[in-house]
Amino acid sequence: MCGITGYIGYREAYPIIINGLKRLEYRGYDSAGVMLYDGKEIQLSKTKGKVSDLEEITNKEPERKKGNIGIGHTRWATHGVPNNVNSHPHISKSGNLVIVHNGIIENYDTLRKELISRGYTFKSDTDSEVLINLIEEVKTQENCKLGQAVQLALNNVIGAYSITVFDKTKPNELVVARLGSPIAIGVGENNKEFFIASDASPFIEYTKDAIYLEDEELAIIKIDKGIKVRKIKDDSMVDTHIQKLKLSLDQIEKGGYDHFMLKEIHEQPKAIIDTYRGRMLPNEGIIRMSGIDNHINKFLNAERIIIVACGTSWHAGLVGEYLIEDKARIPVEVEYASEFRYRNPIITSKDVVIAISQSGETADTLAAIKLAKSKGAFVFGICNVVGSSIARETHAGAYTHAGPEIGVASTKAFTTQITVLALISLKLASKKGEISKSELRTFMQEMQLIPKKIESLLKVDNKVKEIAAVYKEATNCLYLGRGFNFPVALEGALKLKEISYIHAEGYPAAEMKHGPIALIDENMPIFVIATRKGHYEKVVSNIQEIKSRSGKIIAIVTEGDTQVKEIADHVIEIPETVEALTPLLTTIPFQLLSYHIAVMLDKNVDQPRNLAKSVTVE
Ligand code: G6P
Repeated sequence: MCGITGYIGYREAYPIIINGLKRLEYRGYDSAGVMLYDGKEIQLSKTKGKVSDLEEITNKEPERKKGNIGIGHTRWATHGVPNNVNSHPHISKSGNLVIVHNGIIENYDTLRKELISRGYTFKSDTDSEVLINLIEEVKTQENCKLGQAVQLALNNVIGAYSITVFDKTKPNELVVARLGSPIAIGVGENNKEFFIASDASPFIEYTKDAIYLEDEELAIIKIDKGIKVRKIKDDSMVDTHIQKLKLSLDQIEKGGYDHFMLKEIHEQPKAIIDTYRGRMLPNEGIIRMSGIDNHINKFLNAERIIIVACGTSWHAGLVGEYLIEDKARIPVEVEYASEFRYRNPIITSKDVVIAISQSGETADTLAAIKLAKSKGAFVFGICNVVGSSIARETHAGAYTHAGPEIGVASTKAFTTQITVLALISLKLASKKGEISKSELRTFMQEMQLIPKKIESLLKVDNKVKEIAAVYKEATNCLYLGRGFNFPVALEGALKLKEISYIHAEGYPAAEMKHGPIALIDENMPIFVIATRKGHYEKVVSNIQEIKSRSGKIIAIVTEGDTQVKEIADHVIEIPETVEALTPLLTTIPFQLLSYHIAVMLDKNVDQPRNLAKSVTVE
């Protein structure tokens, strides 16, 4: 949540910061701001709205763009509504210190009252303005340098943050710190310039050398002198480790597509191949996953597996439950991380916890991991973002290798997470002797056919578009599926809600009778997954029940189906595959459908209202 950028060096900082903010807008986009220092004055520009709205302001007054040092912010509001005043950067009482902040200062109210009693006044409702004034107060009281003041102030803060702070009286440095929210520092050649950002995408064209701060670390960045990192708590120095970034520019650009979401839907065949590449050896009947191989006894002795995740990743976790129980015969529970972390769950060292997260930064999932670890459980992560907090916090894990996912509505993350979960289920099944070599081989061969099948399925786009045009004005929709496809129904409904703002519910098809059936009338579109393998006859009965109540039926069926075709208003055919892998196919038409409806309704597909890609606050 919230994106931070910063630059200090010899180039004009403005374009670097603004373009960087555009790349970080997936993190939040209800307001944006930038501070530039031109050697004399601080230029602060900020506004409610998107980075493009900010540009309109700065374009009118070019002097706002001058300077070789600056910081920028794109916001997802926590404290204080999105408006111009609450937008970042925030400036201290003296007008010398400026901050951009991602995270939440939980004890901000106490700190604010204390500062008010010392004569501070506040313009905004934000916790961030409290923090910059706290830093100023400490700096004044202790008569110390900025780095030390930030450090002392942060030791009085409860909450999460990544921050960048500028001091007009020492304009050759920036101070950066993190606890719970990510921050990367791009290092230019010969320490002549530095880039700061919530992820590396804003500076990828300038440098491939990056330092990722760890929690409770603070960096003082000075031109020519480089970076010094220390621990916030005990002031000890930290040896910095420069990572070589593998990210490329084309991975974070739209590549000819109108939206990132559409690009990412189309990337799924390749993303799935990248996920299983090197991990499946069908001829040898082996699945290779070092994160599991190195800890195989933890899995084999596990009394149960608990999957924790949020949002779409939670839906993938549900597919994982069906896969692991069906193939490996290990009991699985799937938990919303936000519930798990606060409900005093029973966890023991006999449990294996699998945390799933595209971003690897979701605050609730991270907290659930810490809780599970504190109770002695072995924690395995499934993340997309390499080096993310969750990837680092877990004992072992597997990356999905889907490449950057920028559209807020998750697509390729979902299918690649399911791919990893399928591999895990097969790996454990084979280690436990629950699956024969030949069954394993057949399953892997089926998996290898999935990318081609998705490619052919993507050609139903025009048909999906026609269906989208018919139902785009719907106010309520129902998504039904059974077995492996029940989570796909949930995910289909979530996609529609997220980007079209149409109310939709996902249900296990048979549960429809226990409530949602009351909603059905001739205006209600009901999307049903009725693939041949997977309780087909039962789903057909559910479809009949809908038909008798005049609901509109849009069914996803297996190629060659005749029975459902006769009853449904529309059908979309998917290629045949083994039942456990059908979610990888059935989800595609739902992704396309919500995409087209959102486009037709003129919604902001990649940046839907109120949402953010990376939810780093609880
Ligand atoms: C947000 C995103 C969702 C995502 C969820 C979990 O709500 O908008 O697309 O599924 O967070 O994110 P994670 O990065 O942990 O998978």
